[in-house]
Amino acid sequence: MSKAIIITGGAGFIGSHVVRLFVKKYPGYKIINVDALTYAGNLENLRDIEKSSNYFFEKANILNKEELDKIFKLYQPDAIIHLAAESHVDRSILSPMDFVYTNVIGTVNLLNAAKDAWAGNYHEKLFYHISTDEVFGSLGEKGFFTESTPYAPNSPYSASKASSDHFVRAYGETFSLPVIISNCSNNYGPNQFPEKLIPLFINNIVLGKPLPVYGDGLYTRDWLYVKDHALAIDNIFQKGEKGETYNIGGGNEWKNIDLVKMLCRLMDEKLKKKSGNSEQLISYIKDRPGHDRRYAIDASKINKELGWKPSVTFEQGLSETIDWYLENKEWLEHVTSGEYRKYYEGQYG
Ligand code: NAD
Ligand code: DAU
Repeated sequence: MSKAIIITGGAGFIGSHVVRLFVKKYPGYKIINVDALTYAGNLENLRDIEKSSNYFFEKANILNKEELDKIFKLYQPDAIIHLAAESHVDRSILSPMDFVYTNVIGTVNLLNAAKDAWAGNYHEKLFYHISTDEVFGSLGEKGFFTESTPYAPNSPYSASKASSDHFVRAYGETFSLPVIISNCSNNYGPNQFPEKLIPLFINNIVLGKPLPVYGDGLYTRDWLYVKDHALAIDNIFQKGEKGETYNIGGGNEWKNIDLVKMLCRLMDEKLKKKSGNSEQLISYIKDRPGHDRRYAIDASKINKELGWKPSVTFEQGLSETIDWYLENKEWLEHVTSGEYRKYYEGQYG
């Protein structure tokens, strides 16, 4: 079947894996990547598929409604998969307004562009919004986030994502726009910008720099391999019910310090260093303000209703991720030049 699908944020970490999956799996679909190419957007992520005849790139900012209208007119999309966002919690503490603009106003612009272009003809149309488990706030030692957990965001990032989720839901209720939202846990894998825990620490181990663990290091996250997230997005895109939300998670909880120690062990093996070498780089630093203690997803709805579950074990995924970073030093060098250095100095001194 032929379809035109706009994927926003396709030059970023998760977006590039989703674009690649769709371009390869659906040769009959036109895949249109709409991305502003901020510091986090990198077309090098898509070099292997950029010449595919069903792939199109439009450099555009979702804050610019006129540009969005032109793109919608040109491609007449059947569906939107919306990933474009400011995505890093620490940056949202330094500069909250960037998150309000892109994540809230940008999402509402995109909703309006879809609503205007489809003009009430919603047959076979879909606006699929990619969100995060951080909208639910923080868990205690026990329990899981379900689709009905009340929203309680604690950072400017999660507040902006929660706000965008509410707008998407509201456009479904008020304008009958066919919408779906999914809320996913922490992703890791190739092409993740080295401001997030795993790629930052891989890069610092390679460079022999300190590994800055926030607070007591006992914060817990539920880690999912990015290619499994992309498969979940495909699954929801094809089989998800309009108006529904789906939680996606790895069933894979780790305290930060335990994860960092495992990463250090794997890095020592791969770099043929003496055991314990990388662990010496661990350095406890001042905590992140508003730091959520624990995230954990109950993914039984997507598992039971759509048949999705993670396919990659953490050891496997982490090992593949480290290999990718060690084999793609040029990619790392490109993304860590310029703006990155300024951010790093400001954040870690
Ligand atoms: P990322 O920061 O790696 O990529 C974001 C992309 O959006 C970049 O390509 C950037 O250029 C683009 N972008 C930013 N502002 C834009 C604008 N105004 N107009 C157009 N494009 C713009 O992000 P990611 O980690 O790949 O996350 C993608 C989405 O998934 C986000 O919506 C995020 O909230 C969500 N999410 C991320 C995770 C995670 O662990 N990374 C987990 C759950 C949900
Ligand atoms: O849960 C999903 C979310 O996961 C996504 O919505 C976000 O886009 C994504 O960035 C991620 O948010 P986190 O804040 O959980 O990820 P981050 O990699 O920044 O941090 C993971 C944990 O590691 C967190 O407890 C903070 C800690 N940390 C992070 C950094 C960057 C450190 O201890 N030191 C660090 O230098």
